[in-house]
Amino acid sequence: MSRFVGSTEVAVAEVALFYGSDDGNTESIAHRIRARLGEEVVDLFDVADVTQLDFENYDKIILGIPTWDFGQIQSDWEEFWDDVSSVDFSGKTVAMFGLGDQFGYGDFFLDALGMLHDVVKAAGARMIGYWPTEGYEFDASKAWLEDKSLFVGLGLDEDQQPELTAERLNRWCQQIHAEFPLQSPLQDIEDQ
Ligand SMILES: Cc1cc2nc3c(=O)[nH]c(=O)nc-3n(C[C@H](O)[C@H](O)[C@H](O)COP(=O)(O)O)c2cc1C
Repeated sequence: MSRFVGSTEVAVAEVALFYGSDDGNTESIAHRIRARLGEEVVDLFDVADVTQLDFENYDKIILGIPTWDFGQIQSDWEEFWDDVSSVDFSGKTVAMFGLGDQFGYGDFFLDALGMLHDVVKAAGARMIGYWPTEGYEFDASKAWLEDKSLFVGLGLDEDQQPELTAERLNRWCQQIHAEFPLQSPLQDIEDQ
């Protein structure tokens, strides 16, 4: 695939992954997802540096967002909020992952993931990558679906359960690989 930047044609990958990150955890996970799906398959974007136009070139999109400050949206996503709310996601398929701390912020676990999901879904996206809530301990989350058995995306906790992250990433990447679907084979990654 390709797009034009001014009059120059540049290649774009099949998938775009947009992330925001204050302390680097979400950024590091973004790289680990890209390593699994394939470096050639995923273009990575820090949401601090993007415009709405960057969304237009892709119909397969991954979004990564941590929750901060008792249920708040990470700062770069917050600055981009009005813009992302007005992207037309119809015809696009979106998978999401969120980072949080289930013991430190058990009443607000992954809230920003839930808030971003609701905006993107309302804007017409086909949502994939929903993930079981089994194996986490917390009291409340805006990333819960109504029956509380699923999160609206992959939940990761680098503060309390970093030892579970590699296996969760392996399983979730297999899941979204099938759900998008993607043709290129998954990479076999050992990144514990
Ligand atoms: C001051 C502070 C507030 C936080 N608030 C929440 C919260 O409300 N909900 C949650 O799930 N995690 C919360 N976290 C945990 C972060 O989401 C977690 O550390 C995450 O990995 C940070 O990602 P980043 O390094 O990409 O910014 C908080 C962490 C800190 C230090």
